[in-house]
Amino acid sequence: MNITIVGTGYVGLVTGTTLAELGNSVYCVDIDEKKVEGMKKGIVPIYEPNLEEMFLRNIHANRLHFTTNLKEALDKSEVIYLALPTPPGEDGSADLSYVLKVANDIGEMMTEYKVVVNKSTVPVGTADKVTAVITSKTDLPFDVVSNPEFLREGFAVEDSMNPARVVVGCSSDKAKNIMAQIYQPFTNTGVPIIFMDEKSSELTKYAANSFLAVKITFMNEIANYCELVGADVDKVRLGMGSDDRIGHRFLFPGIGYGGSCFPKDVKALIKSGQDENFKFQILESTEAVNNAQKVILTKDIEKYFNDLKGKKIALWGLAFKANTDDIREASSLDNIKLLLEKGAKVTAYDKIAEANVRNVIGDQIEYAEDMYAALEEADCLLIATEWPEFKNPNFDLMASKMKNKIIFDGRNMFPLEVPEQHGFFYKSIGRKT
Ligand code: UGA
Repeated sequence: MNITIVGTGYVGLVTGTTLAELGNSVYCVDIDEKKVEGMKKGIVPIYEPNLEEMFLRNIHANRLHFTTNLKEALDKSEVIYLALPTPPGEDGSADLSYVLKVANDIGEMMTEYKVVVNKSTVPVGTADKVTAVITSKTDLPFDVVSNPEFLREGFAVEDSMNPARVVVGCSSDKAKNIMAQIYQPFTNTGVPIIFMDEKSSELTKYAANSFLAVKITFMNEIANYCELVGADVDKVRLGMGSDDRIGHRFLFPGIGYGGSCFPKDVKALIKSGQDENFKFQILESTEAVNNAQKVILTKDIEKYFNDLKGKKIALWGLAFKANTDDIREASSLDNIKLLLEKGAKVTAYDKIAEANVRNVIGDQIEYAEDMYAALEEADCLLIATEWPEFKNPNFDLMASKMKNKIIFDGRNMFPLEVPEQHGFFYKSIGRKT
């Protein structure tokens, strides 16, 4: 099948590459000429493990094409995926202007039946809005389908090639058959495809992300309580997660969730509720608890030292989680901001995400060449991202560099006894100090 993808951001690029890998001819459209030229030459514009190989394989197989020309790509395909940004507006609601602009262009340019697939995370009712915009521009037949994406950054290839389920919101049999055909390689191997109406599909995406945000946040509160009563959250987590109604995943406490999805989607669902005079109490609390959780260790560091003025804090990890260069809503940034406000100096190490942080805060902090160099004369170390290279460090080398042997660990990287055996004061999340 020929498929057009509009938008080559994270979701669009991974979706396009995956659909090419499944044997389709995929035409990716983006307005960014430089990016399109780069992709034509085989340059992957995002950092994502294992993506480059699949990307290059499909370019060489002539299944993956790039263009800035929407009309040209539109004419080639019956199915058009929209993978456009839906950034939060000032009030937290999702900004649909990119999606509706392209819907308008499709309405003006199409010359035969099309299936327009909403892949972006969009509020309930967006399929209706896209339908209305296209209808205002053409009398030709078309269908609008909601097909949310559930992949995680850092695991994009793994998740997109092995989805837990495919959700399709669709009220036309014709479009339903086309979508079933596209996802047949998955359904053949037992992946469920769940058809439903468009609104339920749109809400499924927000509900899934918000539920996971609540799950993490619940565990963060349990962790904070563990510290007060002398319980160990790792034990509690294992005890709880062994009940398969709860499950082990997304129960890891830390310094809050970040990224381009959970914070934005929780906000957007709260706002959508408000528009209907509906209060999502659990999500409002989740947001508030998460905001406090992000800086909980900097507050502990301040308590420890009394005054942070002139203190040198080494920071391991800038990305919002491991295996990505994404720093959107990263806890590291909240901690840096607070530490600088309190007069501390920060030296950070994160080779993958450093460039993105430099673009946002420039030289307000120092950047180290390697993880040990960040520790030179440090009063303490704060760990904000669970990069694998931090998992088994040389504690003696660390001790030789640091002014004080103190670690505040926001990602519970080490068994409690290990840093202690090397003489470190070790504070993590939800475990005894
Ligand atoms: C999330 C969802 O997991 C995907 O299913 C969804 O498709 C995606 O959003 C999206 O809407 O596009 P992602 O933002 O890439 O994926 O990252 P996650 O792996 O879900 O992590 C989100 C945040 O939660 C990170 O800050 C991570 O450190 C934190 N987290 C995750 C925890 O603090 N504890 C956990 O146990 C798990």
